Amino acid sequence: MAKSLLTYSCSACGHAHKKWAGQCDGCGEWNTLVEEAPMSAGPASSSLGATRGRKVPLMDLDGDIELPPRTLSGVQELDRVLGGGLVASSAVLVGGDPGIGKSTLLLQAAARFARNGLKVIYISGEEASAQVRMRAQRLGVEKSPVRLGTETSLRDILTTLENEKPDLAVIDSIQTMWADNVSSAPGSVSQVRAAAHELTTFAKRKGMAIVLVGHVTKEGQIAGPRVVEHMVDTVLYFEGERGHQFRILRAVKNRFGATDEIGVFEMTGKGLREIKNPSALFLADRDKAQPGSVVFAGIEGTRPVLAEFQALVSPSPHSQSKRTVVGWDSGRLAMILAVLESRCGIPFAGLDVYLNVAGGLKVTEPAADLAVAAALLSAREDTALPADTVVFGEISLSGTLRPAGQTENRLKEAEKLGFSGAIVPSRSKTGAGCTLELKQFDDLIGFTEQTFSAG
Ligand code: TYD
Ligand code: MG
Repeated sequence: MAKSLLTYSCSACGHAHKKWAGQCDGCGEWNTLVEEAPMSAGPASSSLGATRGRKVPLMDLDGDIELPPRTLSGVQELDRVLGGGLVASSAVLVGGDPGIGKSTLLLQAAARFARNGLKVIYISGEEASAQVRMRAQRLGVEKSPVRLGTETSLRDILTTLENEKPDLAVIDSIQTMWADNVSSAPGSVSQVRAAAHELTTFAKRKGMAIVLVGHVTKEGQIAGPRVVEHMVDTVLYFEGERGHQFRILRAVKNRFGATDEIGVFEMTGKGLREIKNPSALFLADRDKAQPGSVVFAGIEGTRPVLAEFQALVSPSPHSQSKRTVVGWDSGRLAMILAVLESRCGIPFAGLDVYLNVAGGLKVTEPAADLAVAAALLSAREDTALPADTVVFGEISLSGTLRPAGQTENRLKEAEKLGFSGAIVPSRSKTGAGCTLELKQFDDLIGFTEQTFSAG
């Protein structure tokens, strides 16, 4: 019997499986495996006779290494996330939920890059040219020299790029692209993978930068942007909460710059506006000295950002108490609760715990531990912390505190925004010129010295 040529790929992460299964082995998502026809094989060949490949000793590369040229868009929030502007011949993936503003961001960026001298082509596979023009008008960039194409056939796009020779091509979106040598439907894992591979290799060979837009998908039939993450140099995700105007552009992979860098924007009636001082924005709606509210001095990439943690602790009506987290890791919350319970003797059993980071920010730093602990205790005791105080520091499982990195930058940002005190682990190195009054955690909520003194 002929062997089946079908395989199954996960539409969320691209992981290949020989057999169908309910759950992906790669990422653990359920119901994401879809049938895939294999890619058409190239001409039968052995490695013998191939002439293109050759080996180059690493040392020979010495001498002609130059830093890749970069172009700034002038949108600082974008340039910083890219690692200092757009690198020539690089491939960038911009992922995000449908409707979050990716097309808006990229059309605005395309116009800025074009204004700064790049030849830019924007290819939309989703919208008709009249729609894109209307959007351009709304954004006030209709006069910019960006070339516009509405095309989904990969072959036509490559021909266009070959003829036009742009410095930057934006492909919106990769899920709408369609390669005629792959038999599955547009948006399937093999189509998305093939199209992304063709486009990025073509762009690198021709020396043009390419930006691929990828929708984060919920249903299994359409491949998500994770499928192409490994093919590109830079992966940016555009995030935001529904109902909030803030949008955060986050670098999760960058061969040319720092990851975890964020750019903050606000969606307005005339497109995205950059927010140069995100701390002020994230703290804008803060009420003074509320129980459960704590300001955390964090670092996002290379920049200090202040954010407010809000906690609510209430008696649980159910036998199993609830833990709900928005903007922080739920596993980390469980750890902090366990430390408070077993090391400090402060039980949370029978209490529902809700934790939220205001403004739709997602905090990933362990330095937020202490801020979370402070918010939980303040909520539990119904006692507000002083409103002009920031909190940061890491908590270990033993209940000791560890100083966070970049203490000085955090304190400076807090000072700039009018805070006068900070609660930090006692060994924190603050640097000269720190005028903030430093307090230790145990000063505040009557902690025992042994448990929360610096380790
Ligand atoms: P869009 O860029 O089309 O999202 P994506 O490409 O990620 O799917 O943005 C869609 C939303 O943004 C839409 O709900 C309308 C809103 N929007 C504004 O609020 N202001 C604007 O100037 C524009 C162009 C869009
Ligand atoms: Mg779009």
